[in-house]
Amino acid sequence: MNVSASRANLTEVTEDVLIVPVFDDESPAYGLLAELNERSGGLIAASFESGEFDGKRDRWTLFHNLRGLRAPRLMLFGAGDAADLSSQSLQRIAGAAVRVLAERGARTVAFALTDRLLNKQSGQAVVEGALLGVVTPGLYRASDKPGIKRLLLVSTKLDEGELTGAAERGAVMGEATNLARSLCFEPSNVLTPTELALRAETMATREGLKFEALGETEMKERGMGALLAVSRGSQEPARLIVLNYEPEGAPPDTDLIALVGKGITFDSGGISIKPAERMEEMKYDMGGGAAVIGAMQIMARLRPNARVLGLVPASENLPSGRAVKPGDVVRSMSGRTIEVANTDAEGRLVLCDAISYAIERGAKTIVDAATLTGAVAVALGEVRGAVMGNDQQVVSDLISAGDQCGERVWPMPMDKEYLEIIKSDIADVRNVGNRSAGSITAGWFLRQFAGDARWAHLDIAGTAWLESEKPYIAKGATGFGTRLMANFVLNRAPNAKA
Ligand code: BES
Ligand code: ZN
Ligand code: ZN
Repeated sequence: MNVSASRANLTEVTEDVLIVPVFDDESPAYGLLAELNERSGGLIAASFESGEFDGKRDRWTLFHNLRGLRAPRLMLFGAGDAADLSSQSLQRIAGAAVRVLAERGARTVAFALTDRLLNKQSGQAVVEGALLGVVTPGLYRASDKPGIKRLLLVSTKLDEGELTGAAERGAVMGEATNLARSLCFEPSNVLTPTELALRAETMATREGLKFEALGETEMKERGMGALLAVSRGSQEPARLIVLNYEPEGAPPDTDLIALVGKGITFDSGGISIKPAERMEEMKYDMGGGAAVIGAMQIMARLRPNARVLGLVPASENLPSGRAVKPGDVVRSMSGRTIEVANTDAEGRLVLCDAISYAIERGAKTIVDAATLTGAVAVALGEVRGAVMGNDQQVVSDLISAGDQCGERVWPMPMDKEYLEIIKSDIADVRNVGNRSAGSITAGWFLRQFAGDARWAHLDIAGTAWLESEKPYIAKGATGFGTRLMANFVLNRAPNAKA
């Protein structure tokens, strides 16, 4: 979708549909609605009076060929209570509006930034939400309808430079999130670890990031026995994807931040095989890796003053005659030995070696994102992800970065007692505990590999995939973590193009 912005009168808009958000305290008696009502010959007032439309969230109505409006259709869209206005609520309003319109033949739309939306954040949120709203998962369907191809932000009051800046930033955020989503939607027969690395490379080449990918030989040389244990069962070789962003002229001692994402392109559970029901969804077990690839695209486009390393340990997790078996002991890159009591707890195995690699590359701050535990979905559902870490500041910065863009996370406690649960009789650590505190023990497992680095972990197993569609977004992949991680870096090291 092409995105642009213009300081113009609403009557001048020539897009197929002009969208005007209406809050629940607005009426056709005054303001913009009164003006539009007059152009409609009283039809707007009539729709309020009949109870057909008001400003409650997600209600909408369309008017055709209003006098003096160049846009052939006007959509009034219910924006709800203005007190609830936030980046997230506005994204959802814009997403829902474009989804309604895509179903009704619109190809180009304009969104009016009305009085309450006269700021850059609002413009950005509208663009982000609209971009997320237009994506449908029908990648391999012959019959999918053409979607909306152009969005115009329009305001009579906001300065054109600000408006364009907001549109650009929203497009950067939305497009990166949609990149992550599109990777999650890909089936695992297409998106193998090798293909994921190729997609990351294509992005890196296009955006001007450095790309490398370690193969299994290099992993062996570096002693990445935990990552290799996971890929043993598969015919597809593992890859450790490395994306590197360096701002121009950065002094070499600029802090290095690593973003690490779980890249399991299919998780069958391995020998500890999963039940068949909903196993097909385990193609999105690379959602953390996809979010890292998306976040790195944002780095490339917004150019913060930070050095950022994006790492994605990518592998399949399958059973076979060569596969790692429950009870096997493997040696990680850190030297720590791991008892693999359950081969379905594979995410932490690929991540621990990637975290060690991040430290070897000089990372002082590490954030990982992973669809790590079913337990996190039990605790927090699809509303919030979990965050845990060894540094309060990093944890609270991640919480605010998430609030800022609507990818919200909630902290889990990290008392030392939880570590007891994953003690092993035979090795330094076990990869699973008992059934209790599953997300926290997974976090503690990773924490042991972070050493002195400031580290935090995002468990996005519940938030990376929606079981059913919402008014503002299709079901399936959400790209959760992309904007959260990008904002985390951008807030620490503001970008040159603010
Ligand atoms: N990829 C799964 C976690 C998951 C579950 C992601 C549901 C998305 C939706 C992970 O590798 C896994 O299987 N975790 C196990 C851990 C257990 C064996 C300790 C789980 O959550 O059951
Ligand atoms: Zn698993
Ligand atoms: Zn998994």
